Parts: sequence; C-alpha cells; structure tokens
Amino acid sequence: MSASPSRVAVFGAGYVGLVTGACLAELGHSVVVRDVLPERIAALRRGEVPIYEPGLADLIARNRERLAFTTDVAEAIDSADYVYVAVGTPPTYSGDADLSAVWMVIDELPAIDGRCVVVMKSTVPVGTGLRVRHRLDERGLEQVGYASNPEFTAEGTAVADFFRPDRIVVGSFRDEDGDAVVALHRGIEGPVVRCDVASAEMIKLAANAALMTRISFINEIANVCEATGADVVRVAEGIGLDRRIGPSFLRAGIGFGGSCFPKDSLALKQLAANSGYHFQLLNAVIEVNELQKRRVIGKLHRHLGPLRGKRVALLGLAFKPHTDDMREAPSLVLAGRLLAEGADVRAWDPVVDGHDLHGVEIANSPEAAADGADAVVVVTEWPQLADVDWAVVGRTMRTPVLIDGRNFLDPELIQAAGFRYEGIGRAADTRGV
Ligand SMILES: NC(=O)c1ccc[n+]([C@@H]2O[C@H](COP(=O)([O-])OP(=O)(O)OC[C@H]3O[C@@H](n4cnc5c(N)ncnc54)[C@H](O)[C@@H]3O)[C@@H](O)[C@H]2O)c1
Repeated sequence: MSASPSRVAVFGAGYVGLVTGACLAELGHSVVVRDVLPERIAALRRGEVPIYEPGLADLIARNRERLAFTTDVAEAIDSADYVYVAVGTPPTYSGDADLSAVWMVIDELPAIDGRCVVVMKSTVPVGTGLRVRHRLDERGLEQVGYASNPEFTAEGTAVADFFRPDRIVVGSFRDEDGDAVVALHRGIEGPVVRCDVASAEMIKLAANAALMTRISFINEIANVCEATGADVVRVAEGIGLDRRIGPSFLRAGIGFGGSCFPKDSLALKQLAANSGYHFQLLNAVIEVNELQKRRVIGKLHRHLGPLRGKRVALLGLAFKPHTDDMREAPSLVLAGRLLAEGADVRAWDPVVDGHDLHGVEIANSPEAAADGADAVVVVTEWPQLADVDWAVVGRTMRTPVLIDGRNFLDPELIQAAGFRYEGIGRAADTRGV
C-alpha cells in the first residue's frame, strides 16, 4: 500500500461513509461504497444523493468513474486494500454504543487472500479495536490489518473539513497498518497524530466531550447573564479573545443536538461508569443541555401566558444549519413540549421535509410559518432568516414575539420591526409584558 491509487471499500453510505468515499475518490482512489439498504444504493446509482451535505453531490458526480455503490459484500471487498467501517453506532437503551452494525461488517468479511487494512471510522468505545482485532484473528484473518481513524468532520462542512483537517488521527496495533492509512491520505495537508488504537478511540470521544463542555459552559454563563443583566454575546467575545480560551464553541443557544454529541456523551459517560468511574463533569454537561432546550418554553410562558391554543412558529428544524440531519435536534424536544402544552405548532426548514413530525404543520417559508402566530422561535440559524423582512412578518402575526434561540438576529433590528425580542443570555425586551 503506497501513494499510488488504492482500492477502498467503504461500509455504510450514511453521512460519514458517503463523504469519506467521495473524498477518497477525489484523491484518486478507486472506491466501492456498500450499504445494506437497497433503496439507498439504487438511488446513489441513479445519481441521487440521499443526504444533504454541501458539495457532496458535485463530488460524487465528478468522481463517478472511481466511485461505485453496491449492497454486495464480495463486490465491495474485491481486492480492496482498505475496508473502511462507517456504519452507525447509535445508543442502546443503557446508553452504551450499539456496535451490532460494526460486528455485522466484521463477521461478513469473506476469506481475504491478500493483505488489507480494516479502518474504523465509526465512533466506538475505547477497547473496541482490541475486540475487533481478536475477532479477526479468531476468524483466521490474522493477516488483515486494523487501524482506528476517527472522523472529526462536521455535518454542513464535512467535505471541506475532510480536505483541510485540523488533524488526522491514526491509531494502529502494527506500524505498517498506520503507515498505510497515512499513505491513503496523501494530498491532504494537516498534522498527523499517530498513536495506539485505544488512544485514537479516546481522542474522538474526548474531543466531542470538550466541545460539548464549552457549549454547556457558555449556556450556563448565558443563564446567569439573564439573571444578572449581562449580555452573553459580549461576554463570549470578551473571553474568546483570550488566546488561552479562543472563540470557538462559545455561542450560547438552546443546546446541542445532532447525531454525535448526545450519543457520544452518553457513550463516554457509560464507558467511564462501566469502568467504575463517575464522570461528574460530563454528567453536568449533559444535564445542562437538556434543561437548556426547555428554557424556550419558559420564555414563551413569560410572554404569552399558558400556551394552550397559542400558535408558535418554529423556524429551522435541522439540528444545525446546512444539514438535513434531525437526529436529536432540539426542535424535536421543543415541538414535543409545545404540543404537550396544547399549542399549535407550525414549522419551516429549507431542507428538512418534516412531514413525519406528528402534529406539526409544515410551512414552505418563514413568512408562512409566522402568519397568524403568537410567537416565532429561531431554532436553527439558517442564513435565510437574515433576509426575512421582519417588519412585514410582524404585521401578519397575532402577537409579534420573537425568541431567538441562537442569538442569530440583531435585537435592535427586530425590536425596530415591532417585535418583542428575547435571545439567550441577553437582557430580555420586556416591553408590553
Ligand atoms: N454524522 C457525523 O457527522 C459523524 C461525525 C463523526 C463521526 N460519526 C460517526 O460515524 C458513524 C457513522 O455515522 P453516520 O452519521 O454516517 O451514520 P448514518 O446512520 O448516516 O449511516 C450509517 C449507514 O450504515 C449502514 N449500515 C448499517 N449496517 C451496515 C453494514 N453491515 N454494511 C454496510 N452498511 C451498513 C446504514 O444502512 C446507514 O446507511 C457513527 O459511528 C457516528 O458516530 C458521525
């Protein structure tokens, strides 16, 4: 395995598998992506991309010659130099990661004559690599290498992140397997961290935990700002300029969601607990996040009183902009709480279809969602919301109340448009309350 084009099999045609496969094809490698969902593979073969990720559809179209899709294991593995595992690892009932899809991939591997490397992209508990190594050995696949190459790309910027990574982490049991994974990335600039497999697995979980901790930290500061009259936006700016702290992930809001942070924090918490350690800080981070999503309901109560019969417009459904991923999106908690309180919920999102959200009416524009509403809530900071003519929207509403769950809009502009505005961690506008 060298700098020359390699043959790569990618198991899992989800957010990570498709981005990994398309980006490796762009680097010149020959890639076959395998999934168990026939309709997903059929759509990809027709040229349809089943997820929304900026730049991905173009990348797939441009690399058609080097990128194939299949449901067939043998076809994917056929003389592959690398077998990437990019299947889902959702939480189980206990909060531990569900590794059944990972084991399915390992157990489905056919007898392999030559030498290839199994590369774990899925986020897995520390110790998984060792268990996979044992399983490969038990199956007589001792010559097959193993490396952990965790994924750090963020949905919405995944393609750009892949080609400009902050770092590439490669953990391996044998140096030659790590060397092979590094060689596969030739053409990408970025620091490479080489380590043992357990440390690579922990780097992924710890990086996510650090980011979540910053979010819950600034959200708690925001809550104290609200109680004391400070403005968290200015506070975040003031602390973020400290080089020891830095500005990223200091944006107060209604909490994190998505397919990674909630599940990976639970997995790390359980990993620690299963090893006899009580991870107090992480527990607090998770709890702060849960409460944060619900604070919007309290704000609506303050402005509208009981919510029964009130109409609330949720602007944005995806867990963050530039993705259609709804896994653990705060909008789901908000919609559920509002419906439970008897409110009418209408929602808009530019890419999430939302028709499976029971009880929520879907509107085709922010203006249509807000029409006749008692309040609008900015749930996801889609850039389109900056272009809305809020003065016009306010006039169509029953009461012009705007809760900015992402501190995305300019409070002065929104107030000048006739709204009662309330952000997160900023002095509330209590006119008329
Ligand atoms: N989504 C992200 O931004 C992100 C970022 C970093 C890490 N991760 C991790 O990467 C992994 C994949 O995440 P995702 O968001 O791409 O998941 P996903 O649910 O979007 O995709 C997983 C895919 O794997 C397929 N699959 C299941 N069993 C299979 C098998 N035996 N063979 C082939 N395909 C199979 C599923 O049908 C599905 O299409 C997870 O462990 C996740 O924690 C995700």
